[in-house]
Amino acid sequence: MTGESAPLFLYALRTVTEAAAAAAYDWIGRGRKEDGDGAAVDAMRDALNQLAIDGLVVIGEGEKDEAPALFNGERLGTAGDDVQLDIAVDPIEGTTYMATGLSNSLAVIAAAPRGSMMDPGPAFYMEKLAVPPAAKGRIDPSWPVERRLTALAQALDKPIGELTIYVLDKPRHKKMVERIHEAGARVALYPAGDVAGALMAAIPDSGIDALMGTGGTPEGVMTACAVRALGGDFMGRLDPQLPSEQIAVRDAGLSTETWYAMEDMISSQNVFFCATGITPGLLLDGVQRHKDHHRLHTLMISGASGERQFLTNWRPR
Ligand code: FBP
Repeated sequence: MTGESAPLFLYALRTVTEAAAAAAYDWIGRGRKEDGDGAAVDAMRDALNQLAIDGLVVIGEGEKDEAPALFNGERLGTAGDDVQLDIAVDPIEGTTYMATGLSNSLAVIAAAPRGSMMDPGPAFYMEKLAVPPAAKGRIDPSWPVERRLTALAQALDKPIGELTIYVLDKPRHKKMVERIHEAGARVALYPAGDVAGALMAAIPDSGIDALMGTGGTPEGVMTACAVRALGGDFMGRLDPQLPSEQIAVRDAGLSTETWYAMEDMISSQNVFFCATGITPGLLLDGVQRHKDHHRLHTLMISGASGERQFLTNWRPR
């Protein structure tokens, strides 16, 4: 999917996240995560099945939370063999936000040529570092947090005191947050949603300078797709949190020491990424429902062209 067909495909792909977001709208603020997830999954599946692709779901979700999901290995689309794509999806990124009516939930999809996306295997959690293009290749994620902040400040040509680091508000990050504060930087703590945090980090002057900390592995691979397309930098290290996950990762012979570059997680630059806001957030407006249409706001990114576009669509209901 290159050349003239790439912009058309990106435009078509956004119908998938638009459909998921519109379906999720019914469940905003109703305290029923699974119902919202189920509606968004069904809508995403239907929309993907209308695209002229042979899509293979490489990253679905659901196993960690046993939530409804598009399943790894599922084939979607109408085409035969001509447009073979790997697909990574998160029909609702931030299901708790959606269920509690809080900001920042998104419907997300990434697509790339077949065989180019990393299969995270049994690892549910990954430690992550996302930074803007100016800091690409300039920060070793295994450095102590203070050294990472110093290098980031140098790369962005501003004092550490002007850095804002997006971190998920989790007990596992307590020490890291203390160290970021001691180093003088700000922390933007959010209870969920590290894909939004990484997108903000990769977009220069968004108000977020980096994402640090541990979140989901599926979200990590999707983030790698988006950040690679945006020209930023993203690295991840498997960081199992659950006892069963630790055993599975060890039994699979996977390293928890290795930091994967984004190019390890997505080996093609020809990657497509779309995110549609469900609830209003840092980056995207939420769904608005009107009498005869939904107003939907989507970020569309093409790795091949390096373009990023925001689209507001008044989509008939
Ligand atoms: P959900 O949509 O599955 O709720 O994921 C939200 C999220 O915060 C992700 O952004 C993040 O990667 C992951 O959950 C972190 O998982 P956990 O909340 O289990 O620490």
